[in-house]
Amino acid sequence: VTDAVDSDDRPREWAPELPLRTQRLLLREHRMTDLDDLAVFHGDERTTRYLPWPVRSRDDTRTALLKKLSQHRAQAEGDWLVLAIEEASSGRVIGEVDLRRGRPGHAEIGYVVRRDAEGKGLASEAVRELLRLAAEEFGVTTVVARIVPGNEASVRFAERHGFVRDAEGDSLDPENPTLAYRWTR
Ligand SMILES: CC(C)(COP(=O)(O)OP(=O)(O)OC[C@H]1O[C@@H](n2cnc3c(N)ncnc32)[C@H](O)[C@@H]1OP(=O)(O)O)[C@@H](O)C(=O)NCCC(=O)NCCS
Repeated sequence: VTDAVDSDDRPREWAPELPLRTQRLLLREHRMTDLDDLAVFHGDERTTRYLPWPVRSRDDTRTALLKKLSQHRAQAEGDWLVLAIEEASSGRVIGEVDLRRGRPGHAEIGYVVRRDAEGKGLASEAVRELLRLAAEEFGVTTVVARIVPGNEASVRFAERHGFVRDAEGDSLDPENPTLAYRWTR
């Protein structure tokens, strides 16, 4: 399988039709009105501990949210698709899932849910849908998760979703070491 292409052979933009719906969730673009919800987990030291994010004040969260507003499509290699996870029953944004576009057939994944949404299978529901989208819509066959050493919750989560350790993909950057886990379709 190769990356989906237009008839002129240029890779097509990753622009999913939103929202994507699962049993309990909507995956959708971010909106400025999500600020209150985002401030909850962007400002949570425990949730952000292993993320490449600082703990954010409300103002910093607003700045981060501004960038996310347009990231519901990924045009070029290296671009992140960033989707809000909305809980259908409450309308609250409880987290986000991300898919970074790599070379054709490849992507990197990211996921986070706020603390009081953990342990309910909600993150799993979102990630299953994102992997389906990547494979079916974008022709992705290999997805990497980069996990900071010590983030055992994320390792267990990745393994439950079929990711396997890929030591060759590790980043040894002393400033930002990460362990690679790989999913293949
Ligand atoms: C990693 C992370 C997304 C995992 O979230 P999670 O809620 O534990 O994951 P799941 O959605 O798979 O939920 C599984 C848990 O819900 C329970 N559960 C309850 N109802 C469930 C249901 N209907 N379906 C599936 N699981 C259910 C499972 O038993 C499991 O509990 P356990 O961990 O005690 O065994 C979350 O810990 C997180 O956001 N961490 C902070 C951000 C982060 O570090 N991200 C990763 C960066 S690489």
